[in-house]
Amino acid sequence: MILPIVAYGSPVLKKMADEIEEDYEGLADLISNMFETMYEASGVGLAAPQIGKSIRLFVIDASPFAEVDEDEEPDPKAAGLKGFKKVFINPIIETEEGEEWGFQEGCLSIPTIREEVMRNPQIRITYYDENWNYCDKEYDGYAARIIQHEYDHVEGILFTDHLSPLKKRILKKKLVQISKGDIEVAYRMKFPSLKRGKR
Ligand code: NI
Repeated sequence: MILPIVAYGSPVLKKMADEIEEDYEGLADLISNMFETMYEASGVGLAAPQIGKSIRLFVIDASPFAEVDEDEEPDPKAAGLKGFKKVFINPIIETEEGEEWGFQEGCLSIPTIREEVMRNPQIRITYYDENWNYCDKEYDGYAARIIQHEYDHVEGILFTDHLSPLKKRILKKKLVQISKGDIEVAYRMKFPSLKRGKR
């Protein structure tokens, strides 16, 4: 089932999400719905707050980053991303290391905006997978980048929070438009300040 993705300005996106227990009702269905919703919106990651649930859960499928043209040099940052499809439950980023690098990030909750965000290249993260196996893993390159972005969501942080005050000021009007649903978007969304009468 495809779920509506909540847009910028929704309070749930600014909340620190709660951990869940192994008996969380409907978890398997929720995970499968989140993947379906993410694919429908052509995303590589989706966090539970983005579908309105303030819980520490996100899903990632980074395989689009592994696709390269035959005449292109393989990107070392994309190494190991073929079939990189994972579920992260109750994650904790334990360490973030290395010299920060910039990457143009986008977010399904903030359509039409892409901006460069600086982050550390290497992370160590502990979490439970969809079968409640405890995992302690290190990631780098695009995998780390996507995880850091989704992890921010369960901490109540958006990529726009990482931008400079000047950049934020420049984007302000566009962000207000997004929260009002005053944008063209190809997937189902829920807007916090939608004017009455408009779908
Ligand atoms: Ni996002």
